[in-house]
Amino acid sequence: MSMLDRIGQKLLFSFDPETAHGLSIAALRCGLPVASRAPHDARLEVRLCGLDFPNPLGMAAGYDKNAEVPDALLGLGFGFAEVGTITPLPQPGNPKPRIFRLTADEAVINRLGFNNEGHEAAERRLAARKGRGGIVGVNIGANKDSADRIGDYERGVARFAPYASYLTVNISSPNTPGLRNMQAREQLGELLSRVTAARAASSVQPPVFLKIAPDLVDAELEDVAAEVIEKKIEGVIVSNTTLARTGLRRTTAASESGGLSGRPLFERSTAVLARMRKLLGPEIAIIGVGGVDSAETALEKIRAGADLVQLYTGMIYAGPALPGRIVAGMVRVVEKERLKSIAALRDTRCQHWAAKSLS
Ligand code: FNR
Repeated sequence: MSMLDRIGQKLLFSFDPETAHGLSIAALRCGLPVASRAPHDARLEVRLCGLDFPNPLGMAAGYDKNAEVPDALLGLGFGFAEVGTITPLPQPGNPKPRIFRLTADEAVINRLGFNNEGHEAAERRLAARKGRGGIVGVNIGANKDSADRIGDYERGVARFAPYASYLTVNISSPNTPGLRNMQAREQLGELLSRVTAARAASSVQPPVFLKIAPDLVDAELEDVAAEVIEKKIEGVIVSNTTLARTGLRRTTAASESGGLSGRPLFERSTAVLARMRKLLGPEIAIIGVGGVDSAETALEKIRAGADLVQLYTGMIYAGPALPGRIVAGMVRVVEKERLKSIAALRDTRCQHWAAKSLS
Protein backbone atom coordinates (compact mmCIF):
# COMPACT_ATOMS: atom_id res chain seq x y z
CA MET A 1 0.00 0.00 0.00
CA SER A 2 1.38 3.46 -0.85
CA MET A 3 1.84 6.14 1.82
CA LEU A 4 -1.13 8.07 0.41
CA ASP A 5 -3.36 4.97 0.52
CA ARG A 6 -2.28 4.32 4.09
CA ILE A 7 -3.20 7.87 5.12
CA GLY A 8 -6.54 7.60 3.31
CA GLN A 9 -7.30 4.29 5.02
CA LYS A 10 -6.33 5.63 8.48
CA LEU A 11 -8.60 8.61 7.91
CA LEU A 12 -11.57 6.46 6.85
CA PHE A 13 -10.99 4.05 9.75
CA SER A 14 -11.29 6.96 12.18
CA PHE A 15 -14.98 7.04 11.26
CA ASP A 16 -17.52 4.31 11.98
CA PRO A 17 -17.80 1.90 9.00
CA GLU A 18 -21.06 3.27 7.65
CA THR A 19 -19.90 6.90 7.74
CA ALA A 20 -16.61 5.84 6.08
CA HIS A 21 -18.62 4.11 3.35
CA GLY A 22 -20.69 7.25 2.77
CA LEU A 23 -17.53 9.37 2.54
CA SER A 24 -15.96 7.04 0.00
CA ILE A 25 -19.10 7.17 -2.17
CA ALA A 26 -19.09 10.98 -1.88
CA ALA A 27 -15.41 11.08 -2.97
CA LEU A 28 -16.19 8.94 -6.02
CA ARG A 29 -19.30 10.99 -6.82
CA CYS A 30 -17.24 14.20 -6.78
CA GLY A 31 -14.78 12.63 -9.22
CA LEU A 32 -11.83 12.85 -6.82
CA PRO A 33 -8.83 11.13 -8.43
CA VAL A 34 -8.63 8.45 -5.73
CA ALA A 35 -6.63 5.94 -7.80
CA SER A 36 -5.24 5.48 -11.27
CA ARG A 37 -6.59 2.84 -13.63
CA ALA A 38 -4.44 -0.14 -14.63
CA PRO A 39 -3.45 -0.29 -18.31
CA HIS A 40 -5.69 -2.35 -20.57
CA ASP A 41 -4.35 -5.75 -21.67
CA ALA A 42 -6.16 -7.81 -24.33
CA ARG A 43 -5.17 -11.06 -22.59
CA LEU A 44 -7.42 -10.17 -19.63
CA GLU A 45 -10.52 -9.69 -21.79
CA VAL A 46 -13.33 -12.15 -21.13
CA ARG A 47 -16.27 -12.74 -23.47
CA LEU A 48 -19.18 -14.18 -21.53
CA CYS A 49 -22.94 -14.32 -22.09
CA GLY A 50 -22.61 -11.96 -25.04
CA LEU A 51 -20.74 -9.37 -22.98
CA ASP A 52 -17.15 -8.21 -23.50
CA PHE A 53 -15.49 -7.70 -20.13
CA PRO A 54 -12.26 -5.63 -20.42
CA ASN A 55 -10.88 -7.62 -17.46
CA PRO A 56 -12.37 -10.26 -15.13
CA LEU A 57 -12.42 -8.21 -11.90
CA GLY A 58 -15.68 -6.61 -10.78
CA MET A 59 -17.02 -4.58 -7.88
CA ALA A 60 -19.42 -6.77 -5.90
CA ALA A 61 -22.95 -5.71 -4.95
CA GLY A 62 -23.58 -3.82 -1.73
CA TYR A 63 -21.01 -1.06 -2.16
CA ASP A 64 -23.01 1.06 -4.63
CA LYS A 65 -26.49 0.07 -3.47
CA ASN A 66 -28.23 3.00 -5.17
CA ALA A 67 -26.37 3.12 -8.49
CA GLU A 68 -24.66 6.40 -7.63
CA VAL A 69 -21.12 5.71 -8.83
CA PRO A 70 -20.88 2.78 -11.29
CA ASP A 71 -18.80 4.77 -13.78
CA ALA A 72 -16.39 5.99 -11.09
CA LEU A 73 -15.92 2.33 -10.04
CA LEU A 74 -15.11 1.37 -13.62
CA GLY A 75 -12.64 4.26 -13.57
CA LEU A 76 -10.77 2.59 -10.68
CA GLY A 77 -9.89 -0.27 -12.99
CA PHE A 78 -12.75 -2.71 -12.40
CA GLY A 79 -13.83 -4.53 -15.56
CA PHE A 80 -17.46 -4.35 -14.41
CA ALA A 81 -19.53 -2.98 -11.54
CA GLU A 82 -22.63 -4.44 -9.91
CA VAL A 83 -25.06 -1.99 -8.30
CA GLY A 84 -27.72 -2.87 -5.71
CA THR A 85 -29.27 -4.74 -4.05
CA ILE A 86 -32.27 -2.66 -5.09
CA THR A 87 -35.78 -3.41 -3.80
CA PRO A 88 -39.01 -2.06 -5.34
CA LEU A 89 -39.74 0.33 -2.46
CA PRO A 90 -37.17 2.36 -0.54
CA GLN A 91 -36.44 0.83 2.87
CA PRO A 92 -34.29 1.92 5.82
CA GLY A 93 -32.77 -1.46 6.71
CA ASN A 94 -31.88 -2.54 10.24
CA PRO A 95 -31.08 -0.19 13.15
CA LYS A 96 -27.51 1.15 13.35
CA PRO A 97 -24.78 0.17 14.09
CA ARG A 98 -25.02 -2.57 11.48
CA ILE A 99 -21.53 -2.81 9.93
CA PHE A 100 -18.58 -4.02 12.03
CA ARG A 101 -14.88 -4.16 11.11
CA LEU A 102 -12.94 -7.23 12.23
CA THR A 103 -9.61 -5.59 11.52
CA ALA A 104 -7.26 -8.36 12.68
CA ASP A 105 -9.02 -10.73 10.28
CA GLU A 106 -9.49 -8.22 7.42
CA ALA A 107 -13.17 -9.10 7.62
CA VAL A 108 -16.51 -7.33 8.05
CA ILE A 109 -19.83 -8.35 9.54
CA ASN A 110 -22.86 -6.53 8.16
CA ARG A 111 -26.56 -6.75 8.91
CA LEU A 112 -27.67 -3.80 6.78
CA GLY A 113 -30.90 -5.49 5.66
CA PHE A 114 -31.19 -4.11 2.10
CA ASN A 115 -31.19 -0.42 3.03
CA ASN A 116 -31.70 1.31 -0.32
CA GLU A 117 -33.58 4.10 -2.07
CA GLY A 118 -35.77 1.77 -4.14
CA HIS A 119 -36.34 1.11 -7.84
CA GLU A 120 -37.38 4.58 -8.89
CA ALA A 121 -34.26 6.40 -7.60
CA ALA A 122 -31.89 3.81 -9.07
CA GLU A 123 -33.71 3.78 -12.40
CA ARG A 124 -33.38 7.55 -12.66
CA ARG A 125 -29.60 7.30 -12.21
CA LEU A 126 -29.20 4.37 -14.58
CA ALA A 127 -31.32 6.09 -17.22
CA ALA A 128 -29.05 9.15 -16.97
CA ARG A 129 -25.95 7.05 -17.79
CA LYS A 130 -27.57 5.03 -20.58
CA GLY A 131 -25.40 4.67 -23.66
CA ARG A 132 -22.21 5.44 -21.74
CA GLY A 133 -20.85 1.91 -22.16
CA GLY A 134 -19.08 -0.13 -19.51
CA ILE A 135 -20.52 -3.27 -17.97
CA VAL A 136 -22.93 -2.46 -15.15
CA GLY A 137 -24.94 -5.26 -13.57
CA VAL A 138 -28.06 -4.60 -11.51
CA ASN A 139 -28.65 -6.71 -8.40
CA ILE A 140 -32.33 -7.01 -7.46
CA GLY A 141 -34.03 -8.06 -4.24
CA ALA A 142 -37.32 -8.14 -2.35
CA ASN A 143 -38.68 -5.75 0.24
CA LYS A 144 -38.68 -7.11 3.79
CA ASP A 145 -42.43 -6.57 4.21
CA SER A 146 -43.48 -7.57 0.71
CA ALA A 147 -46.54 -9.80 0.46
CA ASP A 148 -45.21 -11.24 -2.81
CA ARG A 149 -41.43 -11.52 -2.76
CA ILE A 150 -41.20 -13.29 -6.11
CA GLY A 151 -43.30 -10.46 -7.53
CA ASP A 152 -40.63 -8.04 -6.30
CA TYR A 153 -38.02 -9.87 -8.41
CA GLU A 154 -40.35 -9.80 -11.43
CA ARG A 155 -40.71 -6.06 -10.95
CA GLY A 156 -36.92 -5.73 -10.71
CA VAL A 157 -36.48 -7.55 -14.01
CA ALA A 158 -39.12 -5.45 -15.76
CA ARG A 159 -37.70 -2.21 -14.38
CA PHE A 160 -33.98 -2.77 -14.93
CA ALA A 161 -33.70 -5.03 -17.99
CA PRO A 162 -33.40 -1.97 -20.28
CA TYR A 163 -30.45 -0.59 -18.30
CA ALA A 164 -28.59 -3.63 -16.99
CA SER A 165 -25.68 -5.38 -18.73
CA TYR A 166 -26.82 -8.32 -16.58
CA LEU A 167 -29.30 -8.85 -13.76
CA THR A 168 -28.45 -10.57 -10.48
CA VAL A 169 -31.21 -12.30 -8.55
CA ASN A 170 -30.02 -12.04 -4.97
CA ILE A 171 -31.66 -14.57 -2.67
CA SER A 172 -28.69 -15.05 -0.40
CA SER A 173 -28.58 -12.05 1.92
CA PRO A 174 -28.73 -13.37 5.48
CA ASN A 175 -30.21 -10.08 6.72
CA THR A 176 -33.75 -10.29 5.33
CA PRO A 177 -35.52 -12.96 7.38
CA GLY A 178 -36.59 -15.94 5.25
CA LEU A 179 -34.93 -14.69 2.05
CA ARG A 180 -32.43 -17.54 1.89
CA ASN A 181 -35.31 -20.06 1.95
CA MET A 182 -35.86 -19.11 -1.68
CA GLN A 183 -32.78 -21.22 -2.43
CA ALA A 184 -34.81 -24.36 -1.61
CA ARG A 185 -35.72 -26.32 -4.73
CA GLU A 186 -39.45 -25.72 -5.01
CA GLN A 187 -39.34 -21.99 -4.24
CA LEU A 188 -36.28 -21.54 -6.44
CA GLY A 189 -38.01 -23.26 -9.34
CA GLU A 190 -40.98 -20.91 -9.11
CA LEU A 191 -38.75 -17.85 -8.68
CA LEU A 192 -36.58 -18.65 -11.69
CA SER A 193 -39.59 -19.50 -13.88
CA ARG A 194 -41.23 -16.18 -13.08
CA VAL A 195 -37.96 -14.24 -13.46
CA THR A 196 -37.26 -15.73 -16.90
CA ALA A 197 -40.87 -15.13 -17.95
CA ALA A 198 -40.58 -11.48 -16.86
CA ARG A 199 -37.38 -11.17 -18.89
CA ALA A 200 -38.98 -12.75 -21.95
CA ALA A 201 -41.75 -10.14 -21.70
CA SER A 202 -39.23 -7.28 -21.60
CA SER A 203 -38.04 -5.34 -24.65
CA VAL A 204 -34.40 -6.23 -23.79
CA GLN A 205 -33.16 -9.58 -22.47
CA PRO A 206 -29.96 -9.28 -20.40
CA PRO A 207 -28.36 -12.41 -18.93
CA VAL A 208 -29.57 -13.41 -15.46
CA PHE A 209 -27.19 -14.52 -12.70
CA LEU A 210 -28.27 -16.13 -9.43
CA LYS A 211 -26.34 -15.14 -6.29
CA ILE A 212 -26.09 -17.88 -3.68
CA ALA A 213 -24.95 -18.29 -0.08
CA PRO A 214 -21.72 -20.03 0.88
CA ASP A 215 -23.56 -21.85 3.66
CA LEU A 216 -25.38 -24.31 1.39
CA VAL A 217 -24.50 -27.98 1.84
CA ASP A 218 -23.90 -30.46 -0.99
CA ALA A 219 -27.53 -31.60 -1.41
CA GLU A 220 -28.69 -27.95 -1.56
CA LEU A 221 -26.00 -27.07 -4.10
CA GLU A 222 -27.17 -29.96 -6.27
CA ASP A 223 -30.75 -28.64 -6.14
CA VAL A 224 -29.65 -25.11 -7.04
CA ALA A 225 -27.55 -26.38 -9.96
CA ALA A 226 -30.42 -28.52 -11.24
CA GLU A 227 -32.81 -25.54 -11.23
CA VAL A 228 -30.26 -23.23 -12.86
CA ILE A 229 -29.76 -25.74 -15.67
CA GLU A 230 -33.47 -26.50 -16.07
CA LYS A 231 -34.55 -22.85 -16.12
CA LYS A 232 -31.63 -21.88 -18.41
CA ILE A 233 -30.18 -19.24 -16.10
CA GLU A 234 -26.94 -17.88 -17.58
CA GLY A 235 -24.78 -17.81 -14.47
CA VAL A 236 -24.27 -18.17 -10.74
CA ILE A 237 -22.48 -15.80 -8.36
CA VAL A 238 -20.71 -17.67 -5.57
CA SER A 239 -21.02 -16.27 -2.95
CA ASN A 240 -22.71 -13.85 -0.63
CA THR A 241 -21.60 -13.39 3.01
CA THR A 242 -21.56 -16.29 5.48
CA LEU A 243 -23.33 -16.93 8.77
CA ALA A 244 -20.35 -19.04 9.89
CA ARG A 245 -17.70 -17.60 12.19
CA THR A 246 -14.96 -20.12 11.54
CA GLY A 247 -11.35 -19.14 10.88
CA LEU A 248 -11.42 -15.89 12.87
CA ARG A 249 -8.31 -14.92 14.80
CA ARG A 250 -9.98 -12.32 16.99
CA THR A 251 -13.49 -12.79 18.26
CA THR A 252 -14.18 -9.23 19.49
CA ALA A 253 -16.99 -8.43 17.04
CA ALA A 254 -17.61 -12.03 15.93
CA SER A 255 -20.69 -12.33 18.12
CA GLU A 256 -22.48 -9.58 16.13
CA SER A 257 -25.22 -11.08 14.00
CA GLY A 258 -25.08 -10.68 10.22
CA GLY A 259 -23.04 -11.86 7.26
CA LEU A 260 -19.28 -12.23 7.45
CA SER A 261 -17.18 -11.20 4.44
CA GLY A 262 -13.51 -10.75 3.64
CA ARG A 263 -10.46 -12.94 4.12
CA PRO A 264 -12.04 -15.66 6.34
CA LEU A 265 -14.68 -16.26 3.64
CA PHE A 266 -12.16 -17.10 0.92
CA GLU A 267 -11.71 -20.80 1.66
CA ARG A 268 -15.38 -21.76 1.99
CA SER A 269 -16.65 -19.62 -0.90
CA THR A 270 -13.94 -21.00 -3.21
CA ALA A 271 -14.72 -24.61 -2.25
CA VAL A 272 -18.43 -23.97 -2.98
CA LEU A 273 -17.54 -22.31 -6.29
CA ALA A 274 -15.52 -25.34 -7.44
CA ARG A 275 -18.40 -27.66 -6.51
CA MET A 276 -20.77 -25.45 -8.51
CA ARG A 277 -18.46 -25.62 -11.53
CA LYS A 278 -18.51 -29.41 -11.37
CA LEU A 279 -22.30 -29.47 -11.01
CA LEU A 280 -22.99 -26.90 -13.75
CA GLY A 281 -20.46 -28.08 -16.34
CA PRO A 282 -18.26 -25.83 -18.48
CA GLU A 283 -20.87 -23.67 -20.23
CA ILE A 284 -22.70 -21.83 -17.44
CA ALA A 285 -20.99 -18.66 -16.20
CA ILE A 286 -19.67 -18.48 -12.65
CA ILE A 287 -18.60 -15.33 -10.84
CA GLY A 288 -16.38 -16.03 -7.84
CA VAL A 289 -16.60 -13.67 -4.86
CA GLY A 290 -15.53 -13.92 -1.23
CA GLY A 291 -12.21 -12.91 0.30
CA VAL A 292 -10.50 -11.68 -2.86
CA ASP A 293 -7.84 -9.17 -1.83
CA SER A 294 -4.91 -9.75 -4.22
CA ALA A 295 -4.08 -10.90 -7.75
CA GLU A 296 -3.26 -14.32 -6.30
CA THR A 297 -6.64 -14.78 -4.57
CA ALA A 298 -8.45 -13.47 -7.67
CA LEU A 299 -6.57 -15.92 -9.91
CA GLU A 300 -7.24 -18.78 -7.51
CA LYS A 301 -11.00 -18.19 -7.94
CA ILE A 302 -10.49 -18.52 -11.70
CA ARG A 303 -8.40 -21.68 -11.25
CA ALA A 304 -11.20 -23.06 -9.04
CA GLY A 305 -13.71 -22.55 -11.85
CA ALA A 306 -14.73 -18.88 -12.05
CA ASP A 307 -15.03 -16.95 -15.32
CA LEU A 308 -15.08 -13.64 -13.47
CA VAL A 309 -14.28 -12.46 -9.95
CA GLN A 310 -15.69 -9.76 -7.67
CA LEU A 311 -14.62 -8.16 -4.41
CA TYR A 312 -15.88 -5.74 -1.79
CA THR A 313 -14.30 -6.17 1.67
CA GLY A 314 -10.76 -6.28 0.25
CA MET A 315 -11.17 -2.67 -0.86
CA ILE A 316 -12.23 -1.57 2.64
CA TYR A 317 -8.81 -2.71 3.90
CA ALA A 318 -6.59 -1.99 0.89
CA GLY A 319 -8.22 1.17 -0.51
CA PRO A 320 -9.27 2.24 -4.01
CA ALA A 321 -5.92 1.37 -5.62
CA LEU A 322 -6.65 -2.33 -5.07
CA PRO A 323 -8.49 -3.08 -8.36
CA GLY A 324 -5.67 -1.48 -10.37
CA ARG A 325 -3.07 -3.47 -8.42
CA ILE A 326 -4.95 -6.75 -8.92
CA VAL A 327 -5.36 -6.15 -12.66
CA ALA A 328 -1.66 -5.30 -12.99
CA GLY A 329 -0.81 -8.48 -11.04
CA MET A 330 -2.98 -10.54 -13.39
CA VAL A 331 -1.11 -9.11 -16.37
CA ARG A 332 2.19 -10.15 -14.78
CA VAL A 333 0.93 -13.72 -14.38
CA VAL A 334 -0.37 -14.09 -17.98
CA GLU A 335 2.99 -12.70 -19.09
CA LYS A 336 5.02 -15.08 -16.94
CA GLU A 337 2.94 -18.11 -17.86
CA ARG A 338 2.86 -17.05 -21.53
CA LEU A 339 -0.94 -17.32 -21.70
CA LYS A 340 -2.92 -16.03 -24.67
CA SER A 341 -5.89 -15.47 -22.41
CA ILE A 342 -6.57 -15.47 -18.69
CA ALA A 343 -9.44 -17.89 -19.39
CA ALA A 344 -6.79 -20.60 -19.90
CA LEU A 345 -6.42 -20.71 -16.12
CA ARG A 346 -10.07 -21.58 -15.52
CA ASP A 347 -10.68 -24.94 -13.82
CA THR A 348 -6.98 -25.78 -13.54
CA ARG A 349 -7.44 -26.27 -9.77
CA CYS A 350 -11.15 -27.12 -9.76
CA GLN A 351 -10.56 -30.68 -8.53
CA HIS A 352 -8.33 -29.45 -5.71
CA TRP A 353 -10.96 -27.00 -4.45
CA ALA A 354 -13.95 -29.27 -5.03
CA ALA A 355 -12.31 -31.98 -2.92
CA LYS A 356 -12.25 -29.76 0.16
CA SER A 357 -14.72 -30.60 2.91
CA LEU A 358 -17.56 -28.12 3.45
CA SER A 359 -17.86 -28.77 7.17
C1 FNR B 1 -22.46 -6.92 0.97
N1 FNR B 1 -22.85 -7.88 0.03
C2 FNR B 1 -24.04 -7.70 -0.68
N2 FNR B 1 -24.38 -8.60 -1.63
C3 FNR B 1 -25.52 -8.44 -2.35
O1 FNR B 1 -25.82 -9.25 -3.24
N3 FNR B 1 -26.33 -7.36 -2.10
C4 FNR B 1 -26.05 -6.43 -1.15
O2 FNR B 1 -26.79 -5.47 -0.98
C5 FNR B 1 -24.86 -6.61 -0.38
N4 FNR B 1 -24.53 -5.72 0.62
C6 FNR B 1 -23.33 -5.83 1.26
C7 FNR B 1 -22.93 -4.87 2.19
C8 FNR B 1 -21.70 -4.98 2.83
C9 FNR B 1 -21.29 -3.93 3.82
C10 FNR B 1 -20.83 -6.06 2.53
C11 FNR B 1 -19.48 -6.19 3.20
C12 FNR B 1 -21.21 -7.02 1.62
C13 FNR B 1 -22.02 -9.08 -0.24
C14 FNR B 1 -20.91 -8.83 -1.23
O3 FNR B 1 -21.42 -8.49 -2.50
C15 FNR B 1 -20.04 -10.09 -1.37
O4 FNR B 1 -20.81 -11.14 -1.90
C16 FNR B 1 -19.45 -10.54 -0.05
O5 FNR B 1 -19.11 -9.44 0.75
C17 FNR B 1 -18.19 -11.40 -0.23
O6 FNR B 1 -17.19 -10.70 -0.91
P1 FNR B 1 -15.96 -9.96 -0.15
O7 FNR B 1 -16.56 -8.81 0.56
O8 FNR B 1 -15.36 -10.95 0.79
O9 FNR B 1 -15.04 -9.55 -1.24
